[in-house]
Amino acid sequence: MDVFHTEICDLFGIEYPIILGGMAWAGEANLVAAVSNAGGLGLIGSGNMPDENLKEEIERVRALTEKPFGVNIVPVAGVSMKERLKTIIGEEVAIVAAAFSDPTAPLIAELHKHHVKVLGVVPTVRLAKRVEAEGADVVVASGTEAGGHCSVVATLPLVPQVVDAVDVPVVACGGIGDARGFLAALAMGACGIQMGTRFLATKECICHPRFKETILEASEEDTVVTGKITGTTCRVIKNKLTEEWLKKEDGGITSKEKFEALGLGKIKSALIDGDIEYGSLVSGQVAGMIKEINSVKEIIVEIIEGAKEIYEEIGAKYLG
Ligand SMILES: Cc1cc2nc3c(=O)[nH]c(=O)nc-3n(C[C@H](O)[C@H](O)[C@H](O)COP(=O)(O)O)c2cc1C
Repeated sequence: MDVFHTEICDLFGIEYPIILGGMAWAGEANLVAAVSNAGGLGLIGSGNMPDENLKEEIERVRALTEKPFGVNIVPVAGVSMKERLKTIIGEEVAIVAAAFSDPTAPLIAELHKHHVKVLGVVPTVRLAKRVEAEGADVVVASGTEAGGHCSVVATLPLVPQVVDAVDVPVVACGGIGDARGFLAALAMGACGIQMGTRFLATKECICHPRFKETILEASEEDTVVTGKITGTTCRVIKNKLTEEWLKKEDGGITSKEKFEALGLGKIKSALIDGDIEYGSLVSGQVAGMIKEINSVKEIIVEIIEGAKEIYEEIGAKYLG
């Protein structure tokens, strides 16, 4: 299928402009390789994993695919960005996605020196302009619908405004889960999509079956944004943990540091250990439309084929 071949397909050497967003714990070798093997771009979610583990993860991906893949980096406590870059460059990874609008000019310059392409994930037009000025090759505009750290602006108004504001290719992110969202993203001027939540409900995702089941059962109203007190919000499915967190946040009885301490280990306990009551069920609003577990390949084929059909149907129906 040589359709929807966009600028980022050439830039990254991929078949389809569909990116697996970096996901702490979930975005490991199996899922990353599955997305890359299916023609998209898999990104390892390096989160706060030690650099030794990241090296192993990169080797595991290479054992599973010869296709392009990358690493998502986040400036979280306990991670030295200098060491991260050393590991990534040492392992000759060709693509890096930097979250939290944090791909600074020196970081990008260092990566460019080693021919690494850089995506900057941003929640606003202001930050899109900043990461472009810092040298990012691609801007990922991520709206409030997204699972994990999210914007206050929704994807629908965010993406076209970012497209108008920058010259580099823009990828739409947040709340996209099928062919309709993919085509809408292209219509808004994006040249690809980044998805997280949809790829959690796959056969290749190593997350706990109870966590996947929670996504299948969730409605579009079942997520909530936590962590406002920390400045880095996180969208998750409501459970007993979020009830407690929100009470603490609303009551103003906790500090940023205390709140962050409450969150320690909670993503792993939900995603890997299956604690759906007291773990952090990181997921986007798009969970409401995910009703079955598929293979990664099925999802990518469904999106590309489906978008082609919708495009033709709209033309036939409304343009004559
Ligand atoms: C379980 C989970 C973990 C995530 N972890 C990270 C992360 O470590 N770094 C990051 O940049 N984004 C992270 N994200 C955001 C995703 O990379 C992606 O941008 C987002 O899921 C896209 O929105 P969607 O969930 O509506 O598809 C995470 C999202 C989920 C659902």
